[in-house]
Order: sequence, then C-alpha cells, then structure tokens
Amino acid sequence: MSQQEKQVALITGATSGIGLAVARLLATRGHRVFIGARSAENVKSTVKQLREEGFEAGGAPLDVRSNDDVKAFVQAAVDQFGTVDILVNNAGRSGGGVTADISDELWQDVIDTNLNSVFRMTREVLTTGGLREKSRGRIINIASTAGKQGVVLGAPYSASKHGVVGFTKALGNELAPTGITVNAVCPGYVETPMAQRVRAGYAAAYDTSEDAILTKFQSKIPLGRYSTPEEVAGLVGYLASDTAASITAQAMNVCGGLGNF
Ligand SMILES: NC(=O)c1ccc[n+]([C@@H]2O[C@H](COP(=O)([O-])OP(=O)(O)OC[C@H]3O[C@@H](n4cnc5c(N)ncnc54)[C@H](OP(=O)(O)O)[C@@H]3O)[C@@H](O)[C@H]2O)c1
Repeated sequence: MSQQEKQVALITGATSGIGLAVARLLATRGHRVFIGARSAENVKSTVKQLREEGFEAGGAPLDVRSNDDVKAFVQAAVDQFGTVDILVNNAGRSGGGVTADISDELWQDVIDTNLNSVFRMTREVLTTGGLREKSRGRIINIASTAGKQGVVLGAPYSASKHGVVGFTKALGNELAPTGITVNAVCPGYVETPMAQRVRAGYAAAYDTSEDAILTKFQSKIPLGRYSTPEEVAGLVGYLASDTAASITAQAMNVCGGLGNF
C-alpha cells in the first residue's frame, strides 16, 4: 500500500499531549484517525476539533484497562473506517512513590494502564481490527526513557515501560516476516499535562516548589529543555511511513540527549 492511500490509524489517549499531536500528524498525512480516551466529552470535542481542521477523524470512549472497552473500540473503528493499518498505543499514566509504601492498587493500576493495555489493544487490532491479515502494518508503542533505565520514585512506571519495550522487541521479531513493524518510541521529558502532574508529585515528595523541580529536570537534559509533543509525534509519523519498513523491534528515544542508550 502506498503512503498516498488513506490508511486507518488508531491512537489511544489522543485527547491530550503526545497522543493528540500524533493524531493530528497522522491526519495531516491523509490518514483516517480514530481516537479514544476515558473522557467521552474530551473524545467528542477532540474529534470535532480535528474535523474542523479538515481531517477525517472519529472516536469512541475507551478505558484501555477494560477488555470490553477495547473490543468495542476496535469494532467501532472498523465499522466507521474499515480495517486497521496503524496502531499507536499511547494511553498511559504516571505513578510511583517510595516503593515500600506503594499499594497493590497503585502498582496494579500503573501496570494495567501502561503495559497490559498494550497487549490487549494489540491483540484486538490484530484480530478484530484485521491487521493480522495484512501484508503491511505499523504498531507503535509510546514507552519512555524510563523503559530503559530506572527512575527514582517511579518503580511501577519504570517496570511498566520496560515491559512495553520487551513486548515491542518480541512482537517485532515475531511479525517481521509479515510486513508489520512494531517499534517503541521512548520520550524523555515532554511538556504535557502529565509532565505537570509529575512535577507536582516530585515537588510534594521532596518538599520543594514545582519550579525548582523543573529547573532540576531541565539541568539533566543535554538539550536544556523538555521535548514537545510534536517532536515525539514526528518520530511516530516517520515510523508509520513506507520508508520505515525495515525498522522493527526497536526502541528509539526522543529526549534531547537525556538517554544515550
Ligand atoms: N509527558 C512526558 O514527559 C512523557 C515521557 C515519557 C513517556 N510518556 C508517555 O507518553 C504517553 C502520553 O503521555 P502524555 O504526557 O501525553 O499524557 P497526558 O497529556 O496526560 O495524556 C494522556 C492521555 O491518555 C488518556 N488516558 C489516560 N488513561 C487512560 C486509560 N486508562 N484509557 C484510555 N485513555 C487513557 C488521557 O485521557 P483520559 O484521562 O480522558 O482517559 C489522555 O488522552 C504515556 O504513555 C506516557 O507514559 C510521557
């Protein structure tokens, strides 16, 4: 399939931050984008906004922690746009704290939201979404540099994102002969609502201000600043393109030099 032909792209967590930038970029390429997030109101307003910008967009409420939601979401996308060509597993949450004090509920929710969801969505897109039958496809998982190195006070988050990287490598190798590529994009610090929540969490943990945390984090980044959602979306867009056909089972950073691995 040439890149010029319209492809169907599913993006989870696309009402905010990185997911929204990815949806907009893929839509700009002429793809039909189908988005999901928990807030039905935000899904509706984001779809409306994308349509007003002239794009072909649809969406449905989705909690990636629910098998039923995932099934209904993929079926709704197929009903509206046809079988799926591109899946971007982006929905995620932060979460951590002093490890000895972490509750079962927090641990399980971070792993369920960030890792189990990626398996759940991917399986559904391969089956109900029809991707398994195709000779060309793209699965792109938004992991994190925390999926390659440990983050202090972020054990559940780091564990979940390492899991996403491992899943990506295994499935990438499995599907390589089919023409479906599977890659992870690993952002470092990206200015989004999640990044603001993370700074607030560290400010509370270290009893300091959010500005002080921002300065501390920025000083760790060789580039000296956070990445933008659009910069992360740029790599996703490249991986979704025809030119990226031989890139699979990789985990690539967009992090201003934060991670050299
Ligand atoms: N920002 C960073 O610095 C950074 C760095 C590395 C990796 N990442 C990763 O990048 C991804 C996007 O992060 P972001 O910073 O763009 O976050 P964000 O601005 O908080 O957006 C998160 C999106 O995911 C949705 N979402 C959250 N939980 C969901 C669930 N259970 N089911 C379905 N949708 C859900 C949210 O909508 P609802 O709340 O309505 O569901 C929202 O659309 C995440 O996987 C994150 O771990 C971010």
